[in-house]
Amino acid sequence: MSWKDQHVLDFKGVKPEQIRTFFSKIDSLPKQNLPVNSHIVAHNFFETSTRTKLSFNTATIRCGAKPLNFSASSSSMLKGETFLDTLLTVQAMGVSAFVIRHGFGESLREVSKNLKVPVINGGEGISGHPTQALLDAYTILKERGQLEGERVLFIGDIKHSRVARSNFELLSLMGVKMGICGPESWLPTGDEYEFELFDSLEKGLKWATVCMALRIQKERRLDKTGGNFESELQKFINGYQLSQKSLKHFANDGVILHPGPFNREVEITSDVLNDSRCKIWTQVENGVKVRTALLAEVLGLR
Ligand code: CP
Repeated sequence: MSWKDQHVLDFKGVKPEQIRTFFSKIDSLPKQNLPVNSHIVAHNFFETSTRTKLSFNTATIRCGAKPLNFSASSSSMLKGETFLDTLLTVQAMGVSAFVIRHGFGESLREVSKNLKVPVINGGEGISGHPTQALLDAYTILKERGQLEGERVLFIGDIKHSRVARSNFELLSLMGVKMGICGPESWLPTGDEYEFELFDSLEKGLKWATVCMALRIQKERRLDKTGGNFESELQKFINGYQLSQKSLKHFANDGVILHPGPFNREVEITSDVLNDSRCKIWTQVENGVKVRTALLAEVLGLR
């Protein structure tokens, strides 16, 4: 199975072999752009983005296709046009695929049933961000040489993170062991995935081969202001910030990740960016590769 002409919304029904085959295609992407073709890829971002939006733009160009960029703030949604009607309008212009990011209450899985062309999830509310998980897993594979048996520690605001959700889905599929640590009220609830729970960053870092700091999703929190949030934030900085001091407990050949955007001196201190184990910019580079390979597959390009 491949993603040709398919929606890419999450990893439901995906087999580990499909992921392995997909990752091997990334390695054989040509250095030059694919031949120019008539595909137009609609990039409908209803939430802010730097990495995902620009890497999909770059990926579209690398695929020999043209990006059609949408700006929610200057669109007719301000006149009352709905999310679905906006997408149907863009589809009627003859696009070959959509990349959509949104934070509406609607499910992309439901909305995409009304669309005839493939939809790639570019980040949906707190439910998922599958292409981020693909680039994270690809980065782990390249840096560590394997996925199965790796031990990935997620740190911080896991509960509100769509990146964490998609990573849990993909990494558990690929046989990766997962650990979590952070202030108690920021940890995920439910038993959908198996985790090691660490009551300190030190213990978590001693266990892990890869650590991933997560941004505090202030925009998605109900308690984003006030004393309670400020005291949780301070507790987080004191106990769970990645710094040269806390990283003394981390393996010399370990890998430090952050999906970005990161808040310097909150999730990580600036000096961590110069640590040879830190692969945050490699994640951005891999984001273009992963999204180019994915678009090529969805569009059925060679
Ligand atoms: N990691 C990520 O989704 O970053 P952007 O919000 O900048 O796209």
